[in-house]
Amino acid sequence: MSNSDIPAGLKELLQGYTVEVLRHRPPDLVEFAVRHFTQILANRGNDKPAKKRGGKVSRKGVTFATNSDENVQDEREEDQEKLVKCTTGKYNRRVSVCAEAYNPDDDDDDDTEPRVVHPKTDEQRRRLQDACKDILLFKTLEQFSEVLDGMFEVQVKPQEHIIDQGDDGDNFYVIERGVYDIVVAKDGVSVRVGKYDNKGSFGELALMYNTPRAATIVATQEGALWGLDRATFHRLIVKNNAKKRRMYEAFVECVPLLKSLELSERMKIVDVLGARCFKDGECIIAQGDSADCFYFMESGQVRIMIKTKTQAGQQDDTEVEVARCSRGQYFGELALVTNKPRAASVYAVGETKCLVIDIQAFERLLGPCKEIMKRNISQYEDQLVALFGSSVDLKN
Ligand code: CMP
Ligand code: CMP
Repeated sequence: MSNSDIPAGLKELLQGYTVEVLRHRPPDLVEFAVRHFTQILANRGNDKPAKKRGGKVSRKGVTFATNSDENVQDEREEDQEKLVKCTTGKYNRRVSVCAEAYNPDDDDDDDTEPRVVHPKTDEQRRRLQDACKDILLFKTLEQFSEVLDGMFEVQVKPQEHIIDQGDDGDNFYVIERGVYDIVVAKDGVSVRVGKYDNKGSFGELALMYNTPRAATIVATQEGALWGLDRATFHRLIVKNNAKKRRMYEAFVECVPLLKSLELSERMKIVDVLGARCFKDGECIIAQGDSADCFYFMESGQVRIMIKTKTQAGQQDDTEVEVARCSRGQYFGELALVTNKPRAASVYAVGETKCLVIDIQAFERLLGPCKEIMKRNISQYEDQLVALFGSSVDLKN
């Protein structure tokens, strides 16, 4: 039998079952198999029987919830009920269709749900850990090793569509390598709105909010990804997001930059942010580096430093302080707004905690705040005039 005769997903299903057997050592393997696979089916049923919008089979044979148009009304009605009895006779909570917080306190099913584990070699696990080390969604997680257990490797060919806009969400992806275009179609016109260059992650929105895929992601070259299936993403990440909302709700309420946003827009920012702590003197941003994220100050202080210039106008390595930021303020927006390298260096003063969002989320969620940011850039220019004595144009 050739490899192509083996149905997609069979290997992962059997591996998952084997791992559960080794963990629980059940006396009756057949009875345990019935319960194990019934539960997997129930988890799928919990998100509705698979009937995909684009008819595309999920990667690795794992198929999950659909929201096909004719089912949307049904879904809403069922969502009113909130509780759905699944095939095991156990009551499971449904995922909300809109961006409401998923309440982890309501969910006590976790310990009975079979955990998806994709066995990995030491070398694979090292590569996976390296790809995941800067993923913001994983930064506030207690169960990071469970996330790693649940991830599976995906090889990508040039021009392959990893995600198609409008489809139902199957997996979340972390990039190990490769360049991926982000294409958004609006009013029949497809626009390339950005790209992922050998790092980052995508595919979280459809899984977090139970919405159709919001963009198409296309590989421009050969690459490698790590996928996390919808059910595991929900159990580990979405549940953690509800805690994050509670932790940061009060904070984002008092950030002046975000005042003009609706509460739901602020909560979406909370969903994708990651917390990062820095020690006294640590360099958070280095002047001249390329930029891929934006920072809110949660606690502590940072010092903004600019390299001075020689009399001939050349930059030298001496730095002078131009500003400080503390709780509620932000930095790192300038390079994202101007598409230029970082204009200053930023150092922690004492223990400092920042809330970070990546450039794609910045573009998607902070568009309405860009005017305020642009106005603030004029203040930076004034600071630099005071420092260097000549006029500075940071925007162009
Ligand atoms: P999802 O909607 O699940 O699938 C497409 C993914 O593209 C989306 O999650 C985000 O992770 C990612 N993405 C990056 N930039 C954008 C954007 N501007 N609009 C929508 N999705 C985006
Ligand atoms: P960015 O250029 O992305 O990274 C360095 C950050 O320092 C910059 O964004 C601003 O957020 C911040 N900053 C504060 N004051 C200044 C200033 N006078 N000139 C440049 N950047 C400044």
